Amino acid sequence: MKIIDGKVISAQVKEEVKEKTAKLKAEKGIEVCLAVILVGEDPASQVYVRNKKKACEYVGFKSLSYELPGDTSQEELLELIDKLNKDDSVHGILVQMPVPKQIDEKTVIDAISPEKDVDGFHPMNVGALCIGEPGFVSCTPAGIIQLLKRSDIDINGKECVIVGRSNIVGKPMALLMLRENATVTVAHSRTKDLAEVCRRADILIAAVGKAKMITEDYVKDGAVVIDVGINRNAETNKLCGDVDYDNVAPKCSAITPVPGGVGPMTIAMLMNNCLESALRKAGE
Ligand code: GUN
Repeated sequence: MKIIDGKVISAQVKEEVKEKTAKLKAEKGIEVCLAVILVGEDPASQVYVRNKKKACEYVGFKSLSYELPGDTSQEELLELIDKLNKDDSVHGILVQMPVPKQIDEKTVIDAISPEKDVDGFHPMNVGALCIGEPGFVSCTPAGIIQLLKRSDIDINGKECVIVGRSNIVGKPMALLMLRENATVTVAHSRTKDLAEVCRRADILIAAVGKAKMITEDYVKDGAVVIDVGINRNAETNKLCGDVDYDNVAPKCSAITPVPGGVGPMTIAMLMNNCLESALRKAGE
């Protein structure tokens, strides 16, 4: 059984981004720039935003940070997005989700220019992924493809079962696995005989948000198991995935741990998307 190390693979991705960023600056004088917007003071979001800014610094991006009060109106946020859309020095715009209740998430996503939507949430980018055109891909599913490829796991022709159908993980994950020629099943909370469906999988991807839901009964011998879950145990304050790791791992050919599996890949792919945006703008 192989443990897929997301810390090592995300470091490789960030190293590659760092090199290309330096090259773009040296050859064309272009400084890659990501604008990060946080509305309100959700502690988890503050941690994510801080980590995104730290990653920018590490790879050599400029980061613009907008920390707006929790009572910011939708109009004020849209004005800021409009200003950043028009600013030629900004290559990526990210609004940390969730946003406070007076702001409509969909309106915000739609307002970000698709060329700067490094989260890959805009309908134009989701549509592009669906029909195989270039665009930005949601960072977590894009990171999972990198984990599989860089661990030499063959996807072509494999049975892939994805548990979860969210817009930011399950659905784009299904489209990416299809693009890699897997046979894809998307299962969810209403799926009948979920364990049986999951046992078909050569590659099982769990993105449900329920701690340890995927037990050994859900896993075929020799399967590859990817755990997208980040669940915090209220008593111990420890992170735990959607997969019952201790019981599932012995059955797998490869598995991602939590923490240290999928998690670190998300920010690495965000950096990769932002560099990609700058390269496209530079005509490369
Ligand atoms: N909130 C939780 N995950 C994400 C993400 O990937 N991007 C943004 N913008 N907000 C999030």
